[in-house]
Amino acid sequence: AAIEKGGYEHFMLKEIFEQPTAVFDCLRGRLDAKKGTITMGGIDQHLDLLREANRIIIVGCGTSWHAGLLAEYVLEELCRVPVEVEYASEFRYRNPVINPGDVIIAVSQSGETADTLVALENAKNKGAFIFGVVNVVGSSIARLSQAGAYTHAGPEIGVASTKAFTAQLTVLYMIAIKLGYSKGTLSKERYQHLINELSLVPDKIQDALNEATSIEKLAKKYQHARDFLFLGRGYNFPIALEGALKLKEISYIHAEGYPAAEMKHGPIALVEETLPVVFVATRDVYHEKLVSNAREIKARKGQVLAVITENDDLFEEIADDTISVPAADELIAPLISVVPLQLLAYYTGLAKGLDVDKPRNLAKSVTVE
Ligand code: G6P
Repeated sequence: AAIEKGGYEHFMLKEIFEQPTAVFDCLRGRLDAKKGTITMGGIDQHLDLLREANRIIIVGCGTSWHAGLLAEYVLEELCRVPVEVEYASEFRYRNPVINPGDVIIAVSQSGETADTLVALENAKNKGAFIFGVVNVVGSSIARLSQAGAYTHAGPEIGVASTKAFTAQLTVLYMIAIKLGYSKGTLSKERYQHLINELSLVPDKIQDALNEATSIEKLAKKYQHARDFLFLGRGYNFPIALEGALKLKEISYIHAEGYPAAEMKHGPIALVEETLPVVFVATRDVYHEKLVSNAREIKARKGQVLAVITENDDLFEEIADDTISVPAADELIAPLISVVPLQLLAYYTGLAKGLDVDKPRNLAKSVTVE
């Protein structure tokens, strides 16, 4: 087992550190920044169908659902198509409206999650077209899909999903960028810019990983917290949800993710000196709003931790602790801002002496209801 972990103490840490390679492998042979092209067999063959889709419905569970939520924001922005994101377990039982012209995107690492599988079978029987974004080659969901794109992240062993998530996002972004350009809803200039930005992600994730030692210190500092709040806006809102999920899975600290502006509608009642509030605060159009949200937390004596774009002096002044990541286009930034949150969860679990690769009561692949 020590050899399988390639010198890392846990699979989770190994898989977090594999992300530059996982994203690179996912882009390889598909995205060509010099030529300005994205080539994906499964998309290219069905481009007309995707372009003409009246609606896209994304189905998944857990971390895969979070990738779907971010894909909703990105697809709607770049492709101007209505998107819905559904928890597979709800979608399968609630008699959803599925019309001709709806395309379903299934997101699953294992390709074996029972709720997702049955939800897709039902939708397929109603005539929906199923497009799979799956990691495990030849898995049940891959076989059920009529078209798809593998994430090529390699085997993921740690129960908490890390590299599969960034690879799912990479695929979903490529789909959105390609589709948006082909629909004409994305300008040539922005298309080329986003392709360039995506090609830089592996190196930027590497830079984010270089902060591991300081994140370990923060994990030790905050390990005794009873609750954590994670806040983000826009493209970083799904990352706030994912950061909270990772922390609760691995450290058993209760954590909630919220859209930052929603905090006044509930979570603010929890703010006191012992509550760490993590802001996913990389620079984007909402930045000033996030700054004032962080000030509200400080005014109520909460502790502010923030993932920020490097050299954000203002946030550094407000926050108790910051973690810097390299600058990126705001649409692409979540692929990088999630990495420090994965590390925070890992090191918190480690500090508490927990079994980070096999947290209690959780399963890597939930093949029963
Ligand atoms: C379980 C795993 C999660 C995963 C979810 C969906 O809850 O512990 O890490 O995100 O299932 O799994 P899937 O294989 O369909 O992506």
